[in-house]
Amino acid sequence: MMVSSEASPWAKSGGLADVVGALPIALAQSGHPVAVVIPRYMHAQEAPAQRVLSGLPILLGSASYDVSVWEMSSGGVTTYFIENAGLYGREGLYGDRYGDYGDNHIRFALLCKAALEISRLLFQADIFHCHDWQAGLVPVYLKTSAAVDPTFLNTKTITTIHNLGYQGIFKSGVMRDISLPGWLYRSDLLEFWGDISLLKGGLVFSDALTTVSRKYAEEIQTPEYGFGMDGLLRARRGSLTGIINGVDYDRWNPQTDPAIPVHYSASDLAGKQACKRELLREMGLPEAAMKRPLLGIVSRFASQKGFDLIGDIAWDLFEDDVSLVVLGNGESRYEEMFQTLVSHFPEKVALQIGYNDRLAHRIEAGSDIFLMPSRYEPCGLNQIYSLRYGTVPVVRATGGLDDTISDLPGSQTGFKFTDYNGRALLGTIRAACAAWTDRKWWTSMMIRGMRQDFSWAASAAEYSRLYSLLHPSTA
Ligand code: ADP
Ligand code: GLC
Repeated sequence: MMVSSEASPWAKSGGLADVVGALPIALAQSGHPVAVVIPRYMHAQEAPAQRVLSGLPILLGSASYDVSVWEMSSGGVTTYFIENAGLYGREGLYGDRYGDYGDNHIRFALLCKAALEISRLLFQADIFHCHDWQAGLVPVYLKTSAAVDPTFLNTKTITTIHNLGYQGIFKSGVMRDISLPGWLYRSDLLEFWGDISLLKGGLVFSDALTTVSRKYAEEIQTPEYGFGMDGLLRARRGSLTGIINGVDYDRWNPQTDPAIPVHYSASDLAGKQACKRELLREMGLPEAAMKRPLLGIVSRFASQKGFDLIGDIAWDLFEDDVSLVVLGNGESRYEEMFQTLVSHFPEKVALQIGYNDRLAHRIEAGSDIFLMPSRYEPCGLNQIYSLRYGTVPVVRATGGLDDTISDLPGSQTGFKFTDYNGRALLGTIRAACAAWTDRKWWTSMMIRGMRQDFSWAASAAEYSRLYSLLHPSTA
């Protein structure tokens, strides 16, 4: 049973949703019975689900919350949506324009308790596979209040870290409200720099830990990438595995993608030029840009993604013959930075602020080069989509970006830089743009990237192996 705050297409803010949308289907195809538990947010109400439980009381602290459970089956996976209109029936997943919702500890503690309840009543889980801090209390409840419950005698838990930068930190004063006994407030348990961290609960109490690439599994054991959890992760390194994410090639394939103007493939690339022309037109860039390399960005605007480096080099970069299209939203300082670039270089830079799945596909198809200069990147999916779309990635050699992109002669699929500074990024973009002018060489690199295979089957097999080690009956 997967417990998550996101699952595509019902609730998505980033790659977590893509993973929880696709991994369960791949596991089901290999014969595992899989369920997914997520909140019934306002937009998740569009899912064609049936109400299977209503008026179920769930106790948290001294309060009782009434919950309904909606069930849906698709692709061999059962999804359970937890309904509580007051807590989940909102527009945002985690917050609104004023910031994070003040009751997120309650919202996600309730999700965890509800998952245990579903396991008692509807779908007995051998393994709870918990994603990020929002599911961190499942292993904590299982090892504390539910430890004597015979339902869970052989139940095992896995926590997958999708992003160590989000730790579910709350004041210790809320512990009682989410049914956490005071003794858990200890530096080797949930306490974290004077507060509590729900992610830390998951990391301490889970039977196994995973993260979404091999390189990130190493990096998070260092102070530079560990966000204060590196000591704990070093202590638990024997239980920590890095398993790279797959991608859903049914949705990300330039041969069939309904969002792009002309289809193309590794054996017939003609359509890619048409996709570029149409993207330039749609974003308001001049036709003359067909003769320049076009850089693309699709991203959350967060400090993780390294856009301050683009700010540092923009004045030099746009002296060169290049163009840039950007789609993203998030922190206003990056929105403003890209807006400033558009006003200074209107012939070269185009921006759309917002979340737009269709445009994301069109940027993947129409760009020549995809930029991901991340400060850190647990896995990253867009660079893998880019490979399939023949859009050569320029990435910082960190986490999953380093694991999925090769810059070695003979197997090169992209360009990488290591030092986190503007000079290194600028040098790498310039090297890529120079290579772009050698059309024959560039095309052979594109084709090599398009033939890479990151489908879910291989990653799902690694999760399967881990499940059977933890719980032999799932083998
Ligand atoms: P992260 O999860 O850190 O945001 P990933 O690369 O793993 O990074 O996944 C990002 C996912 O979200 C991809 O599917 C990407 O296409 C999508 N995405 C991010 N920003 C936007 C946006 N502004 N509009 C549409 N899709 C977006
Ligand atoms: C996180 C990470 C991203 C990863 C995604 C799915 O949001 O930032 O790198 O691809 O989770 O695992």
